[in-house]
Amino acid sequence: MIDKKLVGEKAVDFVKDGMVVGLGTGSTVYYTIIKLGELVKEGLSIIGIPTSIQTEELAKKVGIPIGDFKEIEQIDVAIDGADEVDSNLNLIKGGGGALLREKIIAKAAKAFIVVATPPKMVEKLGAFKLPVEVVPFGTELTEKHICELGGEPLLRQSEGIPFMTDNGNYIFDCIFLDISNPKKLEEHLNIIPGVVENGLFVGMSDTVITLDRNKNVLFIE
Ligand code: A5P
Repeated sequence: MIDKKLVGEKAVDFVKDGMVVGLGTGSTVYYTIIKLGELVKEGLSIIGIPTSIQTEELAKKVGIPIGDFKEIEQIDVAIDGADEVDSNLNLIKGGGGALLREKIIAKAAKAFIVVATPPKMVEKLGAFKLPVEVVPFGTELTEKHICELGGEPLLRQSEGIPFMTDNGNYIFDCIFLDISNPKKLEEHLNIIPGVVENGLFVGMSDTVITLDRNKNVLFIE
C-alpha cells in the first residue's frame, strides 16, 4: 500500500495548471486522484476525464471537475496503473475491468504515464491473465476463436454471474503462454468478431513510474 502511494502520488508531477487529465482506474492511480483532489483544493485548475464509473465517483468526491469528449479538444496527460509492465514498457491492463475506456483515453492523450509498483515489472508479459472484453452475444463462438489463437479463456465472474463492464460487456481472462509478440496478439485478438478490446497496451507508455530496491522513485522512459 505504501509503495502504491509513493508511485501514485509522484505522477502528479506530470500535471500542470490548465491541463485535461485522463484519470485511470485501480488501487495505484487511486493515490494520484486523491493527491490531485488536494491540489485542486489548493487552486490547481484541471479537468478530469475518468476511465470508469468508479473513478468518476472518486474524482467527483475529491472535487476534481469532470469533462467529457464534447467539450474538450485534447487530453494533455493520462495517468493509469497496470497489471504488468515489460522491459519495453508494453502493458497488460484490465484487472479492474476498465481496459476499453482506459485504452481510448491513453490513445487520445499527448502523454501516457503509468504508475506501477515493482511486482508489476516483468521481463515478459503473460503471467497475469490477459483480459479480453467481449460483447455478451455469442460468447461461445468468441471463446472458440480465442482458443484458436492459443489462449485459454475464462469468463470473469462476479458473485456467481458474469462480470459486466461499464460498457455492458463481458471479460474473458485468458492464459497465453507465449506473448513474445504482444503487438501481433493484440491485433489478432481485436479482429475476432465479438471482441471489443483487449488489455495489451503496446507502444503506448511514455513514462513508467516505479520504485527501485531502496524504494526510491524511478522514472523509466
Ligand atoms: C483497471 O481495469 C486496470 O487496468 C488497472 O489499471 C490495473 O488493473 C492496475 O490496477 P491496480 O493499480 O489496482 O493494481
